[in-house]
Amino acid sequence: MRGLIAYYTKFGDGTRIAEALARGLEQSGQDVKVLRLPGEVEGDFDFLVVGSPTRMGRAMGPAKRFVSKLKKGDWAGKPFVAVGTGVHGEEPTGKRSDAWPASSADKLYQRLEKAGLKPIMGPQKFWV
Ligand SMILES: Cc1cc2nc3c(=O)[nH]c(=O)nc-3n(C[C@H](O)[C@H](O)[C@H](O)COP(=O)(O)O)c2cc1C
Repeated sequence: MRGLIAYYTKFGDGTRIAEALARGLEQSGQDVKVLRLPGEVEGDFDFLVVGSPTRMGRAMGPAKRFVSKLKKGDWAGKPFVAVGTGVHGEEPTGKRSDAWPASSADKLYQRLEKAGLKPIMGPQKFWV
């Protein structure tokens, strides 16, 4: 199958995660394209992975705008995985990010479902 990994990054962690996911999927025989957002989708894909950093509990603009535009494309019914990066510690640090650990994954998951795509698995959270 042919998959698209579309992700946004501010500080670069998202790139390392997108590349690691691409390697894993390629090793399992998938044909994968990695698209750093903002960017345009070219071609047809069988599945979609979307990733974003978390900012105050939310996904970031470029990832949200990408998902909004999916409604216009041929994505309805296609499988997706929502990926979010964030920070958390064993002990609460008192920082506000403690309240929403990598919850961009949850937020993207909801948006992708609303856009008519079908989840392959639950929201995937990566700690950076
Ligand atoms: C202003 C700000 C708010 C943040 N809020 C959260 C948050 O609510 N939850 C969380 O898990 N991480 C939070 N973080 C940590 C970022 O999610 C983390 O730096 C990001 O995932 C790194 O991804 P990137 O290197 O791909 O940009 C925040 C970081 C900044 C700078």
